[in-house]
Amino acid sequence: MTGGRQIRVELPKPFTPGMVKLAFVEGQQILIVNVGGTLRAIANSCPHAGSSLYGGKLIGAKIRCPSHGLMIDLVTGCAGAVGGLSTPVFAVEEIDGLALVTLDEPGD
Ligand code: FES
Repeated sequence: MTGGRQIRVELPKPFTPGMVKLAFVEGQQILIVNVGGTLRAIANSCPHAGSSLYGGKLIGAKIRCPSHGLMIDLVTGCAGAVGGLSTPVFAVEEIDGLALVTLDEPGD
């Protein structure tokens, strides 16, 4: 376990609660979401059929997939009891207006 690499993503200013940034990070699309003042990062791919989650409605710490309405937890990436589906989530912190997203190293 190496702890992964940290990638810097510039955030809109201000980046207030409820805002979502779609970031393109090393070939991956990652949503960075301000959930009540805490940043969350999740792969931009619904675990149901792979739709983009960007534009999905935020409800608390969950996002509703725009395609078929699956609710995905932005903390765990889990889609509730729906067949154990989940989307990867990433550690993220905000420092000086930048999001530091920790990507897993291959093989971690
Ligand atoms: S692709 Fe997201 S709910 Fe179907």
